[in-house]
Amino acid sequence: MKLFLDTAHLEEIEKASEAGLLDGVTTNPSLMKEAVEDLHRERGDEIELEEYIERILEAAGGLPVSLEVTGHTYEEMVEEGERLYDRFNDVNDNVFVKIPVNPSFNGEKRTYHGVRAIQELTNKDIPVNATLIFTPEQALMAAKAGAKFVSPFAGRINDLIRENNDVEWQKGDYFPAKGLEGENDDNGIKSGIDMVRECVEIIDKYDIEDTEVLAASIRNKRMLREAAIVGSDIVTVPPDIIEDSLEHQKTVEGMKSFTDDTVEEYAEITGESS
Ligand code: G3P
Repeated sequence: MKLFLDTAHLEEIEKASEAGLLDGVTTNPSLMKEAVEDLHRERGDEIELEEYIERILEAAGGLPVSLEVTGHTYEEMVEEGERLYDRFNDVNDNVFVKIPVNPSFNGEKRTYHGVRAIQELTNKDIPVNATLIFTPEQALMAAKAGAKFVSPFAGRINDLIRENNDVEWQKGDYFPAKGLEGENDDNGIKSGIDMVRECVEIIDKYDIEDTEVLAASIRNKRMLREAAIVGSDIVTVPPDIIEDSLEHQKTVEGMKSFTDDTVEEYAEITGESS
């Protein structure tokens, strides 16, 4: 399983990369907003976002970095996708364009904007990450249109199921992969992890070799574990989930007792500094 970082924070990307934990980066306009707001706080008005994005692409060292379009129509998405790719891909040859799978922003029916844009960019050899996927069938359509990554938003499906069932929650709360008791699902999808599992099953079953499932909207370390267990090719997580994943009280407790038990004779061999 590949581990991507879901952030537009350069320092976090550098940190994960230095620790050997980075296989790629995903961003979206909300993550860009967070990074830009932080930069403004640190540096006032003196920020150059284009240069900052270039530094992200460099820090990712050739590993895929997804940059998202903000347009809603097929034409806008293709134009923006090309612009992003032309502007940034030369930096490190690692830009993926993120396209929402099928926006029908004004409630328009039968709009194929997203999948048409995915196909058009793919035909131009621009790799696409199909985003905002909330059903396995959306993932299938995006894969058929040529998306290299399909990104089911696991946490947001859990939010929806909880909303529909008047369950209160905080963003990082665990939601059971098997879903709530009874029939409280979203058209057969019991949880975000259930959706990821079905996406993986469909993509694998039909040997869609050019597409990888990228589990997104991961809210806690247990979801990361479960996305890995159901076979997601890629899981993208915010930086704090990587830190949480490395922590356990017994690890620290064990280190303390081993430190206490370190005899002088052994310390001389290890060269222990403390
Ligand atoms: O990768 C998608 C992600 O950034 C959305 O996550 O937690 O806002 O649903 P979240």
